Amino acid sequence: MKNHIILGIESSCDDTGASIFSTQHGVQSNVVFSQTDAHRLFGGVVPEIAASYHLEKISHVVSQAFEKAGCTLPDVDAIAVTSKPGLPGSLIVGTCFAKALAFTTNKPIIGINHLEGHIFSASVEHNIPFPYVCLTVSGGHTAMYLVQGQGEYTMLGQTRDDAAGEAFDKVAKLLNIPYPGGPIIEKLAAIVGFQDFFNYPRGKMLGYDFSFSGLKTAVLYDLIERGWYDKQTKKSTIPDEESQAKVASSLLYAISDIFCRKIIAALKEFPEVRSIAFVGGVACNQYIRKQLELVAMKYDAQVYTPHRQYCTDNAAMIAYVGHYKFLQGKLDSMDLDIL
Ligand code: KG4
Ligand code: ZN
Repeated sequence: MKNHIILGIESSCDDTGASIFSTQHGVQSNVVFSQTDAHRLFGGVVPEIAASYHLEKISHVVSQAFEKAGCTLPDVDAIAVTSKPGLPGSLIVGTCFAKALAFTTNKPIIGINHLEGHIFSASVEHNIPFPYVCLTVSGGHTAMYLVQGQGEYTMLGQTRDDAAGEAFDKVAKLLNIPYPGGPIIEKLAAIVGFQDFFNYPRGKMLGYDFSFSGLKTAVLYDLIERGWYDKQTKKSTIPDEESQAKVASSLLYAISDIFCRKIIAALKEFPEVRSIAFVGGVACNQYIRKQLELVAMKYDAQVYTPHRQYCTDNAAMIAYVGHYKFLQGKLDSMDLDIL
């Protein structure tokens, strides 16, 4: 079969990414400019800042992707770009840039749903047998899907309020931990052996739906009761690292437990499913990975997680989805919109 080259562009939130994917040889380059440092000062992503950084960086990021892959724009067969969902100002930068490239070179453009990118991010490097269940967990999303084939998936459930990554980040803020809190929560939890000290509530069973805002509030009230958070000044008064670590560990334990329960339910309901993909920024968490693997082992199933660089927002997953849409003839026109 002929080799096809796809350029992927990602700019839905605070990472500017470009990637070259070859249908025969896989990912040829994956360049990401992360804006995390710029947003840290504000404790979260500031949409206006994100959009202006994308504008400043996108041209260079795309050039780097070509350079690293050892090819140029004329070699490309199609341009895949994240068109939704995301921050409008951020999405507009990526889609306009992609449209300009497509228009001037007369190449097809393919709009990609960012969440579809995450769903198939573990397939960039792994051959996952269908059907599989995908748990997508990031700072903006928490959802479970049943995946039947390339581009064929149905949502089983999603969060009714906060995303799990958001719960990590919000609790981290209460503990005086800088944004993004997830990775530091994991490091702190390791200090105290990933134990459940405070038994935070797991919330009601909501089928395959999730809810994390109650958990976050429960942690807040518990901190206030212990005298580890001042309600008036809204400042952390946590006495030492060990106390921080105990809260972090209990939170991680509770969130991991919620995921394990949902995965067990899915493995019971769908006996034909013996593969689980765990994707998104939170899938960087080694403890949760391990717990899911232990669950999977009991049910004769296997867990697939993307390499770190494909867990957080990246353009390789966008180029990957772009490659099968291209082969399926699912192309877009210059009318491609972000809504
Ligand atoms: O996918 P991502 O880079 O951006 C979004 O689309 O949101 O995910 C970022 C989220 C943040 O909430 C961050 O705290 C969380 O992923 N995260 C982690 C870990 N690494 C990143 N959460 C828990 N444990 C980690 N090791
Ligand atoms: Zn994402």
